Amino acid sequence: MDRIRIRGGNRLNGTIPISGAKNAALPLMIVSLLTPETLTLSNVPRLADVRLLQRILQNHGIDIMVAGKRPGQNGAAGDVMHLTAREIADTTAPYELVSKMRASFWVLGPLLARCGEARVSLPGGCAIGTRPVDMHLTAMEQLGAEIAIEGGYVIARARKGLKGAHIRFDKVSVGATHAALMAAVLADGDTVIENAAAEPEIGDVAECLVKMGARIEGIHSTELRIRGVTSLSGATHSVIPDRIETGTYAMCAGMAGGDVLLKDANAGHLGAVIDVMRQAGIDVDVVNEGVRIHRNGAALRPVTVDTAPFPGFPTDCQAQLMALMTMATGTSTIRETIFENRFMHVQELARLGADIHLHGDTAEVRGVRKLTGAQVMATDLRASVSLVIAGLAAAGETMINRVYHLDRGFETLEEKLSACGADVTRISG
Ligand code: EPZ
Repeated sequence: MDRIRIRGGNRLNGTIPISGAKNAALPLMIVSLLTPETLTLSNVPRLADVRLLQRILQNHGIDIMVAGKRPGQNGAAGDVMHLTAREIADTTAPYELVSKMRASFWVLGPLLARCGEARVSLPGGCAIGTRPVDMHLTAMEQLGAEIAIEGGYVIARARKGLKGAHIRFDKVSVGATHAALMAAVLADGDTVIENAAAEPEIGDVAECLVKMGARIEGIHSTELRIRGVTSLSGATHSVIPDRIETGTYAMCAGMAGGDVLLKDANAGHLGAVIDVMRQAGIDVDVVNEGVRIHRNGAALRPVTVDTAPFPGFPTDCQAQLMALMTMATGTSTIRETIFENRFMHVQELARLGADIHLHGDTAEVRGVRKLTGAQVMATDLRASVSLVIAGLAAAGETMINRVYHLDRGFETLEEKLSACGADVTRISG
């Protein structure tokens, strides 16, 4: 298994191109199930999760062509992917694949809408929480599907097709919003999704669906109104830049010090991240090419943050912020409100000398003057990159094990950081 070695202490100066968003690319690829015509996606990030979803969709019979980089094209242009679901050969999403990547469970809605049936493995729990899918299933039932659970699989049927409905979510769920939206666009009649997630990735999927002929109002709001259509066409769509990758590199630059341009970043998608960075004493400039991050000598100030649905502070940047605050001049308070078990990085950061105390859903991070490099273990995608951030400032060498977690969501991380002066090397297994 690959490892990443970091020798800390280098400041970061230069440009980091931001890739397409993992959490937009995955649902956009799944949208291709809704039409027999070709959906062309550009700026698709080269990630392990994208490749795994490709296999899952090919299992359903989708023809996928990926046009890689053209000579001279800069590193971050991403792949161009052509997806054609002329026919759905198989409406089963098997446990072997779904258990590897939860988002593949989202094929349920489009398969039901297009084929009137679906057999999808329940995704199971994961390191950061139990992550049930009850809201997905209730939404499908409200749209007229019959749902049964047999042998760890969701058996869903809508022989007469789906029917528009008024869906009100008790809490904000990105996945359940994607599922309900993707199903409702081909349902007969009108659907309202109340208390919908308004993450930029939801907006990106909705805008792509409109290009395919869907009728959706309230995009980027917490109430989506959909008038079902009988069929959708193909389209061409570019994946939005990754706001979590942007927040991550912003914190790398904030931790190491220096001056970095996050090229192609969309500041409007960063919500509370920019505010928190500025509260922490890091300069953030919104510029034409993206977002510029610089800290030259100013001390890191402690912050008090609760994670929340967009536009609140993203839970997917919580671990990164905790790493940054390990070296603030004072005590920070970070409350995780979305997932019940998203503090796996705390013990690993403590191995580098961090001083963090957990009280239920809240972490008290007492800033220390120095971190020291050590062997650490990646436990999940975002926890693993918090160890990179800490390693950039730690004296000596940090060795991160099990970096396959990182490869799921960060494209060419060590190249991007090394290009700005970091001493980061991948050591292949
Ligand atoms: C998406 O996961 C993202 N994944 C997650 O990013 C992200 O952390 C999360 O949204 C929140 O922003 C992708 O986009 C692929 P939720 P999702 O449904 O959709 C509960 C990363 O690091 N819930 O918004 O699974 C759930 O347990 C990943 O890239 C139910 O109770 O998250 C959680 O507590 C990690 N029942 C809360 O809602 C349901 O049916 C929010 O989860 C569905 C969710």
